[in-house]
Amino acid sequence: MSRQGLVVSRSNRVLKGTGIRTIVRSALALREGQATDTPRPPNIRYTLMTRRRRIYEGKAKVLYEGPEPGTLIQHFKDDATAFNAKKHEVIDGKGVLNNRISEYVFTNLNEIGVPTHFIKRLNMREQLIREVEIIPLEVVVRNVAAGSLSTRLGIEEGTQLPRSIIEFYYKNDALNDPMVSEEHITAFGWANPQEIDDIMALAIRVNDFLSGLFLGVGIRLVDFKMECGRLFEGEMMRIVVADEISPDSCRLWDIKSNDKLDKDRFRRDMGGLVEAYTEVAKRLGIIAENEPIGGSSPKLVQ
Ligand SMILES: Nc1ncnc2c1ncn2[C@@H]1O[C@H](COP(=O)(O)OP(=O)(O)O)[C@@H](O)[C@H]1O
Ligand SMILES: [Mg+2]
Repeated sequence: MSRQGLVVSRSNRVLKGTGIRTIVRSALALREGQATDTPRPPNIRYTLMTRRRRIYEGKAKVLYEGPEPGTLIQHFKDDATAFNAKKHEVIDGKGVLNNRISEYVFTNLNEIGVPTHFIKRLNMREQLIREVEIIPLEVVVRNVAAGSLSTRLGIEEGTQLPRSIIEFYYKNDALNDPMVSEEHITAFGWANPQEIDDIMALAIRVNDFLSGLFLGVGIRLVDFKMECGRLFEGEMMRIVVADEISPDSCRLWDIKSNDKLDKDRFRRDMGGLVEAYTEVAKRLGIIAENEPIGGSSPKLVQ
């Protein structure tokens, strides 16, 4: 499971530039899934000695200690889970795509003045983020009826909602992420009324931005989930958007065909998940039309 301290596979390429720095750089690049043209000496196994402290391993991502205090590295795994992890699969390439798509969304949010935890992407699977105190809520914004809203309220999937609706779910796997109201949130101290106002204002801005972004590339933003956190800067604290925004956390339907381009393909056993996420990335101009995607990083030998 852990990719720390791994042994890098051998290469039979020409020996050149094999100083320790070069070797460590190649090993790092390989581990992080970057292409590297640096030749490695043949028939020698190198063990990468740099160990990062793993802070948290979740269902789809791993958090490592970052290079500076107050930073973390967010690593995107290929694991797909649904129905509170009762359904689980490893889908080759998903992590790479989510890393790129989430980078694109968060970079744009930062640029339009919506504060986020995102600093920069480091490699194919990892990004540097600011450590925040996660507010234990999943904030869901809905524009079109789908999923649990349709089931709960008997509204046919695909029905345009009279206005965007914000819902809160308590982020707790053991309890199945139950839906909660502002009353619960304030009574149990998960967030105070001012913070709820800030979260809702952020949610609306993110929804407006994402709806326009996706509409521009022929995709309807049906709904999405976001997480927020408290970012402490000296004496000050502000609420920022954290975690990820990707086809794992959005419902995205093709405007014309209504084809699903999101994690419902996995939840509903439809197949073609990587192809759908690739389509989203291509339409957003994140990856080139002919760019190969879907493979993970180079194969690593234990
Ligand atoms: N900037 C951040 N600082 C601290 N924790 C974060 C930050 N961004 C996301 N997280 C947390 O990191 C975890 C990401 O891993 P994920 O696989 O999504 O976990 P989970 O299974 O808990 O949803 C989530 O629990 C998320 O709340
Ligand atoms: Mg998560």
